Amino acid sequence: MNISILTLFPELYAGFLNTSLIKRAQDGALVDIGLVNLFDFCDPKQRIDSPSFGPGAGMLLRPDVVSTAVEECQSLKGPAFKIFFSPQGVKLDQQVLKRVSEQIAQKSHVLLFASRYEGLDARVEHEYADLTISIGDYVLMGGDLPAMVFLEGLLRYLPGVVGKAESVAADSFSGPLLDYPEYAHPVEWHGQVVPEIVRSGNHQAIADWRRAQATEKTVLKHFDWLRQWDLAIPQRLEAAKYIPPHYVALMHGDVLLKDQQNPGQVKAGNSSVTSFDLHDIARSSLTYGLKNYFIVTPLQDQQQIVQTLLDFWHTPVGITYNRHRHEAVARVKLQNDLDEVVAAIEAQEGAKPLIIGTSARSVDHIQKISFYDQSTVWQSQRPVLFLFGTAKGIAPHIIDRCDYLLEPIYGFTDFNHLSVRAAASIVFDRWLGVNIRYRN
Ligand SMILES: C[S@@+](CC[C@H](N)C(=O)[O-])C[C@H]1O[C@@H](n2cnc3c(N)ncnc32)[C@H](O)[C@@H]1O
Repeated sequence: MNISILTLFPELYAGFLNTSLIKRAQDGALVDIGLVNLFDFCDPKQRIDSPSFGPGAGMLLRPDVVSTAVEECQSLKGPAFKIFFSPQGVKLDQQVLKRVSEQIAQKSHVLLFASRYEGLDARVEHEYADLTISIGDYVLMGGDLPAMVFLEGLLRYLPGVVGKAESVAADSFSGPLLDYPEYAHPVEWHGQVVPEIVRSGNHQAIADWRRAQATEKTVLKHFDWLRQWDLAIPQRLEAAKYIPPHYVALMHGDVLLKDQQNPGQVKAGNSSVTSFDLHDIARSSLTYGLKNYFIVTPLQDQQQIVQTLLDFWHTPVGITYNRHRHEAVARVKLQNDLDEVVAAIEAQEGAKPLIIGTSARSVDHIQKISFYDQSTVWQSQRPVLFLFGTAKGIAPHIIDRCDYLLEPIYGFTDFNHLSVRAAASIVFDRWLGVNIRYRN
């Protein structure tokens, strides 16, 4: 395969192309990498760049220089699959590398275009790019490092470049799991000993240990990657073993209510339970694997209403009428206050839960977290309790007990009045849901 790199600075590539596996791939005729200097296509009396039209100080590579370089390069080496680099392109990851390696497997010529200055005239990409790649959401001074990053990742897929093709297939980000931890001699180093199991010689035990380690590491450090895969149910259940236990409490006590005596003011009090919240949050809890759903109210009449509904789903009639509803509400527990909820979780798990509150109010002394902060919370290996309020929200003295406050849920509108059961489902899905992007 011929790879042409069009650049303003060919000298940047000298060490890169003449080192290690990339040099060996060229020496072994697995790939022929040619550097094309864009200045060679520019009339010496002309500038290679030109100011961008309109206000702003940016200079762009002239499109006529680009087209001469691309056309001449193709006339020498044949029609090329043309890859441009821009922070606005397709974000590079292992799956993109794999897909591109398959896409170009039958092509004899690939052209990488490394731009500089403020970038390229918008018409150039439109005219030529078969693919535009970004190596991340940041802006570099030019496309040369992105071209090298891309090339190094791509060449690992070219047969013969890396010794063992299986090792590429097992690498982190090649599938749902990160690579497992590996160890070499010496057995003891800086007080750390290589786990006995990897020295045991028992291949099955080592394979099982590696898989468990890889799963745990992926869940705790790269949950967002893992959940992008369309995992079979046994794989999902295996991963779930490493997610700390989650619980939810719906506060009907210690919530804010309209103060009837002082219009415009709120005061702490108790709200009424609803059948919708009971059933819907129970079903969502079971869907996302929460262990219990606590309904919190100190009022005896409200507890009685909840108990009557729960009892119905445990009667033979209720179970026969809807077995799934019975299963879901079996996780519902009634408690008088937050202390009882915390004590119940501690009794079950042997540790107090980390409490994640939800509030429209911003509270400076409580750490705010986003829907992508699972690893921060899960590193502690403690159970997690989501706290939702009813009426006008959780009372301040209860919010003060939260370890974290979750960012609010917004759409691109100014309407912000979700029902608590809808909010709970959205939070569960964003925090614990499978979010498929890649198909196995
Ligand atoms: C200063 S950047 C231009 C950035 C452009 N004005 C923008 O904001 O999208 C100049 C060139 O560097 C390369 N480049 C910079 N950051 C990159 C990234 N994250 N991924 C890929 N290429 C990048 C591109 O070739 C780009 O045309």
